[in-house]
Amino acid sequence: MSTTHALEIQGLSLQSLAEEFGTPLYVYDAETIRGQYHKLKDAFSGFNSKLKYATKALSNINILKLLQKEGSGLDCVCINEIKLGLKAGFDPKDIIFTPNGVSFEEIEQAIELGVNLNIDNIPYLKKVGEKYGENQPVCIRINPHIQAGGNAKIQVGHVGSKFGISYLQFEEVLEVVRKYDLHIVGLHIHTGSDILDADVFLKAAKVLFDMAKHFPNLKFLDFGSGFKVAYKEGDVVTNIPELGEKLTGAVNAFYQDFGRELEIWFEPGKYMVSESGHFLVKTNLIKSTPACQFIAVDSGFNHLIRPMFYDSFHHIANVSNPEGPKKIYNVVGYICETDTFATEREIAETKEGDTLCFYNAGAYAIEMSSNFNSRLKPAEVLVMDGKPHLIRKRQEFEVLLQDQIELDF
Ligand SMILES: Cc1ncc(COP(=O)(O)O)c(C=O)c1O
Repeated sequence: MSTTHALEIQGLSLQSLAEEFGTPLYVYDAETIRGQYHKLKDAFSGFNSKLKYATKALSNINILKLLQKEGSGLDCVCINEIKLGLKAGFDPKDIIFTPNGVSFEEIEQAIELGVNLNIDNIPYLKKVGEKYGENQPVCIRINPHIQAGGNAKIQVGHVGSKFGISYLQFEEVLEVVRKYDLHIVGLHIHTGSDILDADVFLKAAKVLFDMAKHFPNLKFLDFGSGFKVAYKEGDVVTNIPELGEKLTGAVNAFYQDFGRELEIWFEPGKYMVSESGHFLVKTNLIKSTPACQFIAVDSGFNHLIRPMFYDSFHHIANVSNPEGPKKIYNVVGYICETDTFATEREIAETKEGDTLCFYNAGAYAIEMSSNFNSRLKPAEVLVMDGKPHLIRKRQEFEVLLQDQIELDF
């Protein structure tokens, strides 16, 4: 499958957006996000599916509102994501809270807010039982011991992972459920991100289908996410129509077996927003060394950490001179650490002041940004219905001091 790297969004050129709003700048295409949502919904239309967007991928309130209006629910991993979701207009019943390693107080706050609760460890299952008994509906996150995902940092369903309750501890889970008369309404598995093979999802589904018979009050099975998108030309991606077809067969067979339908939930993050995102930066400097030519841009891993953190690939285009002759560059940031976006990358000839675009910068991009080196965070723009809307202003210097308490000495 191929990916496109257009120089415009809904008729607005990336160059003009950089000129109008300045750089560094994140720009999202609302149409792409809506399209991705509906591609998944269509693929999963053969059974009772619900999508719960993984807030952690990109949590700007306007993105949340956009997805809420399309019909999505939310997957949240922090109480603050829940609060953002509620502010964006989500019904608490459409939100699932899937925390890991948080305090029990945070769980209690989520319960107060009325969202679906996903518990991924036995001690907290007991605590919920002790405090709320049968009155609190609970989903249980299972670790199926399936190793899947693009690289070790995004694999979360294997035996050594901190996530979920090992399926080998299932008997203990049943004892706790019986002891406290827990009201189990959901079972959940999320094995990782960038999963290519549809069979991984089917394997995980099978684990939940087998467990389901132990829980008479079940309302849903949550298959998590991990759908891969194309970062570069020719990248293999999760074949969503094929996955939809295979799951339709498997889920309907399960419905027959189980005697009734359950909702089947998914929690896509990257798939929903990655391709909508364009990160625009300005070339500060071209630096030739005996080894290579560097393009140094007005950004760094403080704004887009994925290349340094995950060795991820983002296609880079010079949108000021797209037709220029191709040259080989190393693209680097301004952070005082090794700060490399790309090495030996073919890019149209670039000079100082040119705007570069990093594609696929919607997911885990600004969301993982920081103020390292006392650098300020970029602005964000959402292009919706043919118009650009500023949805986050560029940070200003005062932000750096606003939470500090200066002692008088
Ligand atoms: C529990 C859970 N659900 C969903 C997601 C979203 O995954 P992806 O962005 O690969 O769709 C994650 C990602 O870390 C996750 O931990």
